[in-house]
Amino acid sequence: MTADLISGTEIRKTILEELKKEVADMKAQHGTVPGLVTILVGENPASQSYVRLKIKTAEELGFKEIQDNQADTISEADLLTLIDKYNNDPEIHGILVQLPLPDHIDDKKVLNAIDPDKDVDGFHPVNVGRLMIGGSEVKFLPCTPAGIQEMIIRSGTETSGAEVVVVGRSNIVGKPIAVMMAQKGEGANATTTIVHTRTKDLEGHCKRADILIVAAGVPGLVKPEWIKPGATVIDVGVNRVGTSEKTGKAILKGDVDFDKAKEIAGKITPVPGGVGPMTIAMLMKNTVQSAKFAIEAK
Ligand code: GUN
Repeated sequence: MTADLISGTEIRKTILEELKKEVADMKAQHGTVPGLVTILVGENPASQSYVRLKIKTAEELGFKEIQDNQADTISEADLLTLIDKYNNDPEIHGILVQLPLPDHIDDKKVLNAIDPDKDVDGFHPVNVGRLMIGGSEVKFLPCTPAGIQEMIIRSGTETSGAEVVVVGRSNIVGKPIAVMMAQKGEGANATTTIVHTRTKDLEGHCKRADILIVAAGVPGLVKPEWIKPGATVIDVGVNRVGTSEKTGKAILKGDVDFDKAKEIAGKITPVPGGVGPMTIAMLMKNTVQSAKFAIEAK
């Protein structure tokens, strides 16, 4: 058997088309354009490339986009003042501070300074709390877990009553996706288990999973024989395992051996082209959502 491919690239395209229409309607009906600021501190090449893609996507959707680049010598106090400026700017609905930050700046302090109602990354403790409560409390879901859930829904995977096993317990992926899948609602109502480095029987847990979400950052951690035949496999791992001699680009591999796993799984995400492309789409969705909240609050 060969699994159906869940293409993040394709799903992202559909979501961005939907959002583009929403943005045009919002502008026509309310005169409001979603505003997103991306703050980049320093010159980390990977961060520069992520931020470029975020800006390009925002522009394509018709957002107001501000790219605020700061030297890596900026003080923590000045960065906090800058965030405060955008917190008070009514044309800005989303504030994103690209991580990592230089060592002399406390990430937590910076992320906590963002107005939770403009926190389109969904990293602020207030938004983590809202996620835990669920339902109408939720304003912004963190982008990678939101992208995973969207792929599960749009691939037609049944989640109600399903056994979901999440490999990895990070604050950005493992913990939030496990909570989201167990909530009441569409694409949820599942029984979730989080497994991690101290789990006694990793293999046994994985073998039970109707939906296996792997976010460990260890290439090939999940063995193909651990996959339940017909399961949906979501591979969040993006591991640089070498450099292509032909293109000079990084060779990326997931946490699952895709070629073997696709012969066992029912549905599977590739790496690259799986979860990765979804994250920016969900950031855009959160920014549109934030603009909608601002219109409702007028
Ligand atoms: N750095 C790498 N990924 C992310 C992300 O999703 N959000 C932010 N703010 N920084 C990142």
